[in-house]
Amino acid sequence: MSKKVLLMGKSGSGKTSMRSIIFHNYVAKDTRRLGATIDVENSRVRFLGNLVLNLWDCGGQDMFMENYFASQREHIFRNVEVLIYVFDVESRDIEKDMHYYQDCLEAILVNSKNAKVFCLIHKMDLVQEEMRHRVFEARLNELNTRSEPVKITAFATSIWDESLYKAWSSIVHSLIPNVKLLESHLQNFATICEADEAVLFERTTFLVISHCTKMDNTDIHRFSKISNYIKLFKMSCSRAQAQFKSMEIRQADFAAFIDVLTANTYVMVIMSDLSIEPSATKMNISVARKHFE
Ligand code: GTP
Repeated sequence: MSKKVLLMGKSGSGKTSMRSIIFHNYVAKDTRRLGATIDVENSRVRFLGNLVLNLWDCGGQDMFMENYFASQREHIFRNVEVLIYVFDVESRDIEKDMHYYQDCLEAILVNSKNAKVFCLIHKMDLVQEEMRHRVFEARLNELNTRSEPVKITAFATSIWDESLYKAWSSIVHSLIPNVKLLESHLQNFATICEADEAVLFERTTFLVISHCTKMDNTDIHRFSKISNYIKLFKMSCSRAQAQFKSMEIRQADFAAFIDVLTANTYVMVIMSDLSIEPSATKMNISVARKHFE
């Protein structure tokens, strides 16, 4: 099952950078070498099982943008499942950005009226830390107004921290067809293991797909940091010609296990009952595999 995802925004806003980090194992500093995208770059990324993300990274220079709205309109905007619009928070021409964004929404409304829309206020690292929340809220307000009648989801992002994983986990989560079933499998698994928490990560991107917890009011996005760190650790392993397979962390008050679950997923299990033998948890993970395949 292939899902079309449009990645749009003005030239230099960071589209190819984020795609390269999440899907093609770049680290943030490597993105400085990227050139401008010419027209549209398509990439197909096999995600979970039979889910394929068909990413359209649309170069943002004016001449390309004008073309998308004119001669390529239907070709670009039809059958879109998700539109991701990237705004450079430091952009000096917000009016022009908004103008392109609204043109895009208009074309989406006509050609793919059920598409979900995500707006990323990107390069947040360039804004002083104490100002970030305020800047984001102001942009969000303006975007909500300008997007009417479309309901949007917005994130503040930067390639320099885990905020990028937080946003992309949420985007990908919205595309997984049987996510409720996956969640209930994970819940059963956590109960059987007597785990405090269980988290499912996609294997190559390490994006969070699903999580369950015994604690109240927890936020799925707490795990974005783990996505970021493990992904970097996996890349260091492969540079050293080793392959990351599993990890076990023991602290005074909890133990964490990260292990391959299926061909496309890793699972992380958090246990606070340290009287449960690690071998029992590992056995549970291995027995669970067939239920998730
Ligand atoms: P086009 O292909 O022309 O549409 O541009 P693009 O949106 O794909 O931009 P690209 O990803 O090529 O990024 C342009 C520059 O922005 C690169 O030098 C990146 O290193 C930089 N960049 C991307 N994301 C961030 C970020 O979160 N923070 C900062 N400070 N720089 C970023």
